[in-house]
Amino acid sequence: MAFPLNKTKNMGDNMTKSADNGSKTTSMKALVFHGPNNLSFEDRPKPKLIKATDAIVRVTTTTICGTDLHILKGDKPTIADGRILGHEGVGIIEEVGKNVVTFNKGDKVLISLITSCGRCSFCREQMFSHCRDGGWLLGNSIDGTQAEYVRIPFADSGLYLLPDEADEEAAVMLSCILPTALECGTISGHVSPGDIVAIVGAGPVGLVTLLTSKLYSPAEIIIIDIDDNRLEVARSFGATKVINSLDGKAAEQVMAMTDNAGVNVAIEAVGLAATFDICQAIIAPGGHIANLGVHAKSVELHLEKLWGSNITITTNLVSAGTTSMLLGMVQSGRIDAKKLVSHRFELTEIIKAYDTFANAAREHALKVIIKNSAKEKTS
Ligand SMILES: NC(=O)c1ccc[n+]([C@@H]2O[C@H](COP(=O)([O-])OP(=O)(O)OC[C@H]3O[C@@H](n4cnc5c(N)ncnc54)[C@H](O)[C@@H]3O)[C@@H](O)[C@H]2O)c1
Ligand SMILES: [Zn+2]
Ligand SMILES: [Zn+2]
Repeated sequence: MAFPLNKTKNMGDNMTKSADNGSKTTSMKALVFHGPNNLSFEDRPKPKLIKATDAIVRVTTTTICGTDLHILKGDKPTIADGRILGHEGVGIIEEVGKNVVTFNKGDKVLISLITSCGRCSFCREQMFSHCRDGGWLLGNSIDGTQAEYVRIPFADSGLYLLPDEADEEAAVMLSCILPTALECGTISGHVSPGDIVAIVGAGPVGLVTLLTSKLYSPAEIIIIDIDDNRLEVARSFGATKVINSLDGKAAEQVMAMTDNAGVNVAIEAVGLAATFDICQAIIAPGGHIANLGVHAKSVELHLEKLWGSNITITTNLVSAGTTSMLLGMVQSGRIDAKKLVSHRFELTEIIKAYDTFANAAREHALKVIIKNSAKEKTS
């Protein structure tokens, strides 16, 4: 898939003058969504504080999620033309609103994909992704992190302080994929010692689901995908068996491997009816199907087979409540997040980065790191 690189749009001289300070630059470069398969890297106004609980962060490292690829395909029609994409990032605080108490200008921070007020009924129930005044906003309903600067609402809860020497490439895996894998896959699927676990999808999220599942000592982890390179990576990350499902026979192979018993946990990490079907076909009695893939179309629920099998099916938009704990595990080296990185680009090359990530099998891509090496814009 190739993305048409629109002619760079220029904001004009009037946008490079600040209202309060004529010497300050007020435009920035950003990756902007203009409808399915239409991205452009263009000039946009630099974000400003809107509420006293906001912070403005200069993004130094960002990356691309499988969810961004769904958006690009048109799987999320609610995303507006003109939206700056991206919900993952590390950066330096540029400015804070007067009610932000945890952070100061110059702090290095991890940006969580989830914005939460901490006070509403859903936040009180730890379902931060369903915050009535927040949730998954970045790169969705407000402008995101694939830009030089981003506005972070409720900065006190949406940002995490990083030491100045923190490895940004490892830290950026905590914005979305690590908490997603742990919360929506491993914990929702109740991965337990001795379990047979199948993960359908060996993208970055499937692969970190493998890493976080290993923390719970399952007996077997079977990884299913159609990309042989990613299956090899899965094997090197500790998968006990890998299956290429291109021939449509993955379910039969899993049943044969398990003496027709099936698996205790089946984690869907793709977002297609076909991959959800594999999970339904291989789940053992008493098992857990944990869906974390983003789906654009309905799936067939095989209750005629599952009704008497004591199955639980969970769906989850990541809450990111485990981020602090995962940050500690990454910082201590218990989780080697950096091994997810396959490619590195400058922000100015972000269209190329999208092309690489969208053609992962051809490019042998896992997570693509995008660095904003441009100097801080103060004049
Ligand atoms: N629930 C959440 O909160 C949440 C958060 C983040 C990501 N996600 C979702 O997790 C999923 C995985 O994300 P990612 O970044 O790893 O995406 P990705 O696009 O890099 O990976 C998807 C993988 O699925 C494989 N695949 C595609 N079709 C397949 C098929 N028919 N059979 C088997 N494998 C197939 C691809 O080869 C690829 O390796 C996406 O759907 C993403 O939107 C959900
Ligand atoms: Zn994501
Ligand atoms: Zn809330």
